[in-house]
Amino acid sequence: MTDTKDHLLLKALRGESLKRPPVWMMRQAGRYLPEYMVLRRKYDFFTRVQTPELACEITLQPIDIIEPDAAIIFSDILVIPQALEMEVQLVPKVGPYLPKPIEQSSDIAALNREGLLDRLQYMFDALSLTKKELKGRVPLIGFAGAPWTLFCYMIEGQGSKTFSKAKAFLYQEEKAAHELMDILTDAIIEFLKEQIKAGADVVQVFDSWAGLLSPADFNRFVLPRLRRIVEEVKPYAPVILFAKGSWYALEDLAQFSPALGLDWTMEPEWARSKTGGVVLQGNLDPSALLGTPGQVEKATREMIDAFGPTNYIANLGHGLMPNIPVENVKTFVQTVKNYA
Ligand code: CP3
Repeated sequence: MTDTKDHLLLKALRGESLKRPPVWMMRQAGRYLPEYMVLRRKYDFFTRVQTPELACEITLQPIDIIEPDAAIIFSDILVIPQALEMEVQLVPKVGPYLPKPIEQSSDIAALNREGLLDRLQYMFDALSLTKKELKGRVPLIGFAGAPWTLFCYMIEGQGSKTFSKAKAFLYQEEKAAHELMDILTDAIIEFLKEQIKAGADVVQVFDSWAGLLSPADFNRFVLPRLRRIVEEVKPYAPVILFAKGSWYALEDLAQFSPALGLDWTMEPEWARSKTGGVVLQGNLDPSALLGTPGQVEKATREMIDAFGPTNYIANLGHGLMPNIPVENVKTFVQTVKNYA
């Protein structure tokens, strides 16, 4: 058994000089894999998430089939609102649905913070089991949603292109908005620390909707909280911060986050110029994997050439989509592995 600290992902996160970067993909366990679809037909989403044996099996599927350099635990960012005792459903073809969204401060007061980590025990069990089953093959990544992205779903009650209800709440209920985001920030920090204790070698924070905010609102509501999360968790394990769409804040995020995930709207050279010696992760447009394998290989090589093999983790700019051919996902990973 190899000690995971010798694995490429950990080396990259320590800034060691490498011949090729490590590679993994957001949503590498998911609907593009026929093996996942078999389990998806048998068990509903939160059964898959909350049964450690199933979460472990799903996490390992891409490790066996695609062979990336890291595993990411199969779960969801909405487990925090759920553990705060909001009802969360995953409705087929609709996505996340919270039938009783937060509307006023009394709804925030009703969130149950007592025993929060106990209600997330299945996730820690899934991490420990997966860590054991991995037998040191690759490191294990844990994760949580960021306060703003969780806030979006908790106020809006479902996915949205604009999250205008959530944004209106920032202005109309500013005090309550800060209060809710502080509750989430505390919960996220505790949750991530416990995931590390359970076996996560690295954790990633997903702020999927950061790009909806103006720089001024991002600085007011989001940036100080992301800073607190990264600073409080990074003494325990490397933290990767993925604030999608927040190119305008990249320089500020680089001041405190040693690793940053990037979406595909940024040139690698430009991102490097804003972030100094920070480890960057990303950023191929997932749609590029809808081209031919030859096109995937070319785009992937160009991306590594531009970022360079050191201080870099090859990944996509967002999650894999259900319509991406497995062959192209393999080509993406193999191209990174053959680089050097
Ligand atoms: O990356 C991984 O492989 C680990 C697993 C993972 C899932 N969700 C599994 C999942 C991770 C890291 C997430 C995070 C997540 N969940 C985010 C942040 C990352 C991002 O994509 O921006 C968000 C915003 C969510 C909320 C959520 N959960 C959405 C928007 C959806 C998709 C709804 C849909 O129908 O596409 C989910 C469900 C979900 N989470 C699926 C998976 C594999 C699809 C479930 C299924 O239908 O089988």
